[in-house]
Parts: sequence; structure tokens; C-alpha cells
Amino acid sequence: MAEVIRGGPAANAVLTDDEIRIVLAAAAHAPSMHNTQPWRFEIHGPVIDVLLDEERTLPVADPAGRGARIGLGAAAFNVRVAAAMLGYESRLAVDPDPARPEVVARLFLADRQAPVAGLSTLYGEVSARHTYRGPLLGRLIPPRVQHQLDDAARQENAQLHWLDPATTQQLDALLKQTDSADSIDEDRLHERLHWIGGDRSGDGVHENALGPLPALPAVVRDLALGFDSAHRSQAVYERQPTIAVLSTAGEDGTAWVTAGLALQRMLLVATSYDLTASFLNQVLERPVPRFAVRELIGGHAWPQMVIRIGYPAQPAGHTSRLDWRDSLDRWF
Ligand SMILES: Cc1cc2nc3c(=O)[nH]c(=O)nc-3n(C[C@H](O)[C@H](O)[C@H](O)COP(=O)(O)O)c2cc1C
Repeated sequence: MAEVIRGGPAANAVLTDDEIRIVLAAAAHAPSMHNTQPWRFEIHGPVIDVLLDEERTLPVADPAGRGARIGLGAAAFNVRVAAAMLGYESRLAVDPDPARPEVVARLFLADRQAPVAGLSTLYGEVSARHTYRGPLLGRLIPPRVQHQLDDAARQENAQLHWLDPATTQQLDALLKQTDSADSIDEDRLHERLHWIGGDRSGDGVHENALGPLPALPAVVRDLALGFDSAHRSQAVYERQPTIAVLSTAGEDGTAWVTAGLALQRMLLVATSYDLTASFLNQVLERPVPRFAVRELIGGHAWPQMVIRIGYPAQPAGHTSRLDWRDSLDRWF
């Protein structure tokens, strides 16, 4: 059993109805691939289980469930943040029950003995964070802020690698190769069509959240690549994108959840500095370019997310969420 434990000792804590609403609404704000929201929750007294919802996975783009587990890790992190805001410490175990492999993370809540440093202060960022796919301002991220983002990833046992311009160019070549393979991959197009674009609510990525099409070549992912885009607006994107690759030392189900915890901590810290991020993960959805990205970051760590980060130049449309009540399976 792979297990990661975070946080302090457990004692009894039972959530009220209002607290359950707050915690699960926070979980639902987490990012997930194509906004599938592949999570379900069970609450047993002071224990909150985060389960994989097999009906909300992406068999073509994410056959091993790596992306889904990253999303579950991010949702589990939001649970910890909301619980901390409510006055609960939490411990977290990954894959806690071999008899129930669908239980990906288990949180044990306990009444707080001392302030939960850092976590509760991130609560305000949970609903403020959105993936932003539009152009970024030319303004650089101050080094002290970059260090805070590095720290956020490290606190969850992951690492950020900031790409220099030459490495970004190499990444761009990989992105373009992958995009051209993706644009003629009928299975992928079919799967994406199910989740991306158009007018939708509840889940998936609404057209307003896709961002404009680049008027000039840019390092940005068009999630609707290959679909009709005649009516989408265009914009000029930043010439020197800031890209960080989030990696883990290991490459198994636990590492993927770890990546999700780290991603969410890092994104919430970024949001607190008015930074926004989008992702260039198409290069991680196929083994060959993923291995090439691994080499780009030194060949020792496993790339889990390719993050384009900076200050937004425009307002952006947001994705919506399913009702959190529908994600609660059992409660006793
Ligand atoms: C594992 C993972 C991979 C993702 N890959 C991409 C990507 O390659 N491109 C992109 O634009 N968004 C990507 N996203 C962002 C999701 O599309 C986004 O989180 C989802 O649509 C919900 O929107 P929100 O982040 O604004 O709440 C990814 C998210 C996760 C968790």
C-alpha cells in the first residue's frame, strides 16, 4: 500500500451539515482534466474519503488515470484548506484501503490544537483560482514569488522546474509535434468533443473558458484544437512565456496524487499574488513527448504538469461545477 501522511495527530471531529457543504464545495473548485470532476466523497464521522469516479475518466487522453489522480489530489488539498479554515487539522493518507482501490485519498480530521500554518490562509483563493488560457502581460514574476511557488511544490514533495528560453523553445517544438498528431487523432477528437467547447454547464470546458485563438504563433494550448473555430476571437499572446514543469521523484499512483496536492498548493499561492496559470499538458498525454520533457528537466524526475504562468491581460470565462451534493455518496 502506498501511503503518504501529512499533518498532525488525529482526534474526533464530526462535521456539521454546513461544514460538509463548505468542505465539499471547496473540493469541487479543484482543477481537473477537461473539467470532468472525477471525484466522489464519502464522509464517515471524522473521516473524508476521496474516491475516483470511473464514469468521469478519459480513457483516450488519460488511459492510466494519471490526470484523474492529479485532479483528486487537488480536490483533497482543497478539502484540507477548507477544513483548516473551519478549525480542523487534517492528516491525509493516499490509497489507504487495498480492499477498496477506488478510495484514492483519506483525510482524518481532528480539532485544531494550534493554527494550521498556511493552509487556512489559502481558503480565499480556492474559489478565486481559475485556469486562464488568454494572453499574459509581459510583466515578470518577481524572484521572491517564484521562490514561494517553489516552496509550495516542495511542501507537498514535488518540484518546479522553471524553463529558460532555450528549453522553452525545445518544449514548443514538442508541443507543435504533439498538436499535429492530436489534430488527426479521431479517438482523441471524439473524446474532447464530449467535454470541450460549446455552451455547457455543470462540467466540461465552456467555449468562453477556452481563451482567444493566437493571432500569431504562441506557446499556448488550444483545448478545442481540430474543432470549428470560425467564431472565436483572436489575440496576440506574450512572446516570452514563463513555463514551469511540476515534477515528482516517483511515477506511480501515489506520485500522481502527490502532484495534485502540490499543483493545488502552488496554484493557490500563485492566485494570492494575482497570478494565473494554464497548462500545456498535451506533451504529457503521450509517452514519447513526455519522456522528452523528462529529459528537458534533467532526466531524473517525472513531469506531471506543464504550467504556463503569469499575470492575465484580459478577463476570462470560467468553467462551472456539478452540484457538490451529487458527489457525496454516503454520509453516516
Ligand atoms: C491533470 C490536469 C491536466 C490538465 N491539462 C490541461 C491542458 O493541457 N490544457 C488546459 O488548457 N487545461 C488543462 N487542465 C485544466 C482543466 O481544463 C481545468 O482545470 C478545468 O477545465 C476546470 O477549470 P478551472 O481550472 O478553471 O477550474 C488540466 C487540469 C488537470 C488537473
